[in-house]
Amino acid sequence: MGGAAWNLGAGLEGRGVIVTGAARGVGRASALAMAAAGARVAAVDRNEAGLSETMAALDDRDRHLAAPFDLADIAAIPDLVSGVAARFGGLWALANPAAVLRRRHLDEVTEDDWDHQLDINLKAGFFLNRAAGNIMAAGGKGGRIINFSSTAWLVGPLLGSDAYVAAKAGVVSMTYGFAKAFGPHGVLVNTIAPGQIDTPMQHIDNTPEIVQKGIDMCPLGRMGQPEELAAVVVFLASRHSSFINGATINVSGGSIMY
Ligand SMILES: NC(=O)c1ccc[n+]([C@@H]2O[C@H](COP(=O)([O-])OP(=O)(O)OC[C@H]3O[C@@H](n4cnc5c(N)ncnc54)[C@H](O)[C@@H]3O)[C@@H](O)[C@H]2O)c1
Repeated sequence: MGGAAWNLGAGLEGRGVIVTGAARGVGRASALAMAAAGARVAAVDRNEAGLSETMAALDDRDRHLAAPFDLADIAAIPDLVSGVAARFGGLWALANPAAVLRRRHLDEVTEDDWDHQLDINLKAGFFLNRAAGNIMAAGGKGGRIINFSSTAWLVGPLLGSDAYVAAKAGVVSMTYGFAKAFGPHGVLVNTIAPGQIDTPMQHIDNTPEIVQKGIDMCPLGRMGQPEELAAVVVFLASRHSSFINGATINVSGGSIMY
């Protein structure tokens, strides 16, 4: 292989991909990066204003698709995924950074808090993975699924993120199951586990002092930027990741080491 074949996003040119959470943060950066690598992007989010801003930042907007969608609507997920595949003439990758965080003291977590975080962060992911993986497997050309956990899946919750972290640990084991089920079809399923990333989520119910404590824990002395996650998404969606399956990739600047 020479020249362009070694580009980070090699293999993505002209291929249909879904990116959830695309209205802001890591999802937006991933949608823009996938598009820059040549993919056709279906940008999914419930935040329509943010989604419009993402679409406006894309070159050649008509190659892509804005898909306003609330992932709480689990029953509609298969149609969302098959609709995108039909529009793009196939589906190569799903990246699923969409998530919600409600920080609550352990004693204040309500059933609604638990259900909402488990529904969006884990249950919606299961039905997205299954719908996308089955379409990729049936297409016979392989594919890529990139799920999002948090390094807290391993080391435990911080600042009232107990229910969120339970869902994020579930994402890791859910990914193992799909990696086994879809691997024989050349559909590779992996998880990214971010550390502290400078997005709106980072600042939910958080104080500047606590944000700074996290920065001090990182040997690089800073938070990560959404683009530093998007680069890993593009790599995992590219042909270069062809022997990575069922992995949990730690992208935390060394805040957590494993
Ligand atoms: N930011 C961090 O420090 C950090 C740390 C560890 C893990 N993560 C994980 O990385 C991923 C990206 O996080 P981020 O910081 O970009 O988050 P963010 O909160 O900035 O963005 C999340 C996006 O998901 C969308 N979303 C939420 N609920 C939805 C729903 N029901 N339907 C459709 N869209 C919905 C939101 O509208 C938003 O655009 C998440 O999975 C998050 O859990 C982030």
